[in-house]
Amino acid sequence: MNMKTYLVTGAAGFIGANYIKYILKMHDDVRVVVLDLLTYAGNLGTIAADIDGERCVFVRGDIGDRQLVDSLFATYAFDYVVNFAAESHVDRSIENPQLFLQTNILGTQNLLDAARRAWTKGTDACGYPLWREGVRFHQVSTDEVYGSLGAVGYFREDTPLCPHSPYSASKASADLFVMAYHDTYHMPVSITRCSNNYGPYQFPEKLIPLLIKNILEGKPLPVYGDGTNVRDWLYVEDHCKAIELVLREGRPGSIYNVGGHNERQNIDIVRMSIATVRRLMTERPELRRVLKKQERDAEGQITVDWMDERLITFVRDRLGHDQRYAIDPDKIRRELGWQPETSFEDGIVRTIEWYLTHQEWVGQVISGDYQHYYERMYGGR
Ligand code: NAD
Ligand code: DAU
Repeated sequence: MNMKTYLVTGAAGFIGANYIKYILKMHDDVRVVVLDLLTYAGNLGTIAADIDGERCVFVRGDIGDRQLVDSLFATYAFDYVVNFAAESHVDRSIENPQLFLQTNILGTQNLLDAARRAWTKGTDACGYPLWREGVRFHQVSTDEVYGSLGAVGYFREDTPLCPHSPYSASKASADLFVMAYHDTYHMPVSITRCSNNYGPYQFPEKLIPLLIKNILEGKPLPVYGDGTNVRDWLYVEDHCKAIELVLREGRPGSIYNVGGHNERQNIDIVRMSIATVRRLMTERPELRRVLKKQERDAEGQITVDWMDERLITFVRDRLGHDQRYAIDPDKIRRELGWQPETSFEDGIVRTIEWYLTHQEWVGQVISGDYQHYYERMYGGR
């Protein structure tokens, strides 16, 4: 057996958690060490069932902590590092940019250095470090590094970086460091730049889970600006499959865009979310027990009559709001045969069903700072 040991950072968050669940299910011969600081966005409960102290070990800590990261490399002979850990929310980066530099840039650079120390021995005739066979540092990046598109065109891997938010600027910067380590030290790295993910375990500050939560509470659904901004949505497990494929089979020093040709205006996502929750509640009235806003008809049954587009509320636009993202995923398809397996129509129903049946999880993740954050962002609305 060719056992592989992974350091997966940020796996108590949305995509990282889905990723470790996926690799633990897919491979018998893997061992995973999760390093996560458990910020507001991390929730140990999400991966509690996966952590068994053997195949999957959890360590709470900061990717920027040199001593800790070095000690992990010394304890486990990692083959792979997959770096998900990040401050990931654009709105929060507008509130507090510095934290994004600290985690997303300095944290990533600290991981790169620790990997360089642990994975190299000696140098070649030109002075380049000699790397242990089979190792790989994979950086999970985003399409936001490319900036914003007009009505036509797609982001390709050679599209110039043009980030606009403090979040995307920090991610672009981290990508540049990852590539610099490849060019300067011949470090075996890869990067994936994916479009918007949706699916189970996403924190309800991001559009889709926030909509679901507010619909259940009968609260206004905040649409930034005029709602015509476009995002390219991908089901989270398709993203996880792409990362695993690039990690194991992608060319070292290569960047791969990941997306599913699934562009939607925000307002359409909002309408679709209302219609889907309403349809599920109508087809399966037993689900109505999770409604926080409960109105009853003449027979005393909980109704969903109030659940419609009256909930839509246009609010002040996000500062520097990117108009359109759209990924050209041709390279990963051509080179590695990846393509998305879940259609948006199926994925959104699966996601909404998951939230309706996992309200305890939502309760857990919003028990901390969430109410203060919501109040700051959306006021009394
Ligand atoms: P998330 O916010 O849900 O999770 C981030 C995780 O990182 C949390 O568990 C948090 O506790 C942890 N973390 C934060 N700072 C840390 C630190 N200093 N040290 C260790 N752990 C720390 O994020 P997500 O949506 O799962 O995104 C994961 C990665 O994927 C990010 O790098 C993000 O930029 C990228 N990405 C996200 C999307 C998306 O749609 N969500 C799309 C493309 C790329
Ligand atoms: O494109 C990939 C990126 O997708 C990732 O790199 C980020 O980590 C991830 O957060 C996501 O960024 P977005 O800013 O696109 O996602 P968010 O869910 O915050 O917003 C999606 C769109 O919906 C965006 O145009 C802003 C809008 N929006 C968002 C919220 C939270 C609203 O209209 N109302 C809202 O309340």
